Amino acid sequence: MRTNKFYGRDWIDAEMDYTREEWESLIEVALELKRRYAMNEDTTSVLRGRTLFTMFFNQSLRTRSTFAAGIQQLGGFAVDLEPGKTYTPARKGFDIPYKTERIKDVAEMLSRVGDAIAIRMYGPPANWIYGFANDTMKEFAEYAGIPIINMECDKYHPTQALADLITIREKFGGFKGVKLTMSFAYSGSIEKPRAVPQSVVLAATKMGMEVTLAHPEGFELDSRVIEACQKNAEKNNSAFRIVNDFEEGFRGADVVYPKSWGSTYCFNYMDETGKIVKRADHEKAKEVNEAARSWKTSRKQMELVDKNGIYMHCLPADRGQEVEDDVIDGPQSVVIDEAENRLHAHKAIMAMLMGGRL
Ligand code: CP
Repeated sequence: MRTNKFYGRDWIDAEMDYTREEWESLIEVALELKRRYAMNEDTTSVLRGRTLFTMFFNQSLRTRSTFAAGIQQLGGFAVDLEPGKTYTPARKGFDIPYKTERIKDVAEMLSRVGDAIAIRMYGPPANWIYGFANDTMKEFAEYAGIPIINMECDKYHPTQALADLITIREKFGGFKGVKLTMSFAYSGSIEKPRAVPQSVVLAATKMGMEVTLAHPEGFELDSRVIEACQKNAEKNNSAFRIVNDFEEGFRGADVVYPKSWGSTYCFNYMDETGKIVKRADHEKAKEVNEAARSWKTSRKQMELVDKNGIYMHCLPADRGQEVEDDVIDGPQSVVIDEAENRLHAHKAIMAMLMGGRL
């Protein structure tokens, strides 16, 4: 039975595929579930007896704990299918005998016995091939009869973006006119996905915020993401700009989100057939990364933002590299609120996609 217009849909490229009105609906549901949680109201009828399969190809604290807690609070159950303990799901053409299992078979089997599959994959399990993990999720979606939920891939982290929007809505009451800067921040690690910055700029422009993307040269985001942000800004009569100066990005912002991501040199690139057409250049990646050491958020930096401005970060943060302790632990930081809102965001996504009735 179809219980709402979200029922049965995937949540993979949600910043691209879901409308602004649909994001707003999910925010409303999340805030309602947050209220009910605070009031200790029973919500176990929402997804009673439903099963969520989770597959983490990478480490996680927040995503793992909040999906597991969230489904339980809605009356369902999470089964963690540890890749490596199960036969590792493999895309067509990437099979290894008796080690992997074709995604088609995995997806079809799980669809007979559960209600959604949530996947995290980026970086080493996808050989740092940009887009490979996103394509893996889409191959699952092709064969699954139940929703596929992206818990972070190499392109997007849409569950994080929803939690971030909930946090901004709580702090500012809405999105119109709110100035958000998504900024690069330095980290000693040269290899990191672009999922968070790409999701944040897409979601923020979708909601009509005034968005600045700040990064040094060499840390450009996917050109399709930039085009979509420009279209969002035009549609909403708002603004989207890119600057290459750390301080300029902070000046006058209501929300700053300084977070490290990998340079364009840290990824392998494939064509549409999956063939590698450009390899990562780790020497160049180190060079541009070291040149960006000054992109660290300090108290002095925070003096540039609006007096009511907030500091956001998805966590985990590289303290002392991306940010000083007195900023992330300071009065403008909302990082724990964001992490808390992961729970309510995930509950809203599961409730709506897996068919609960509130
Ligand atoms: N922000 C985030 O996704 O945290 P985890 O990596 O701990 O899940």
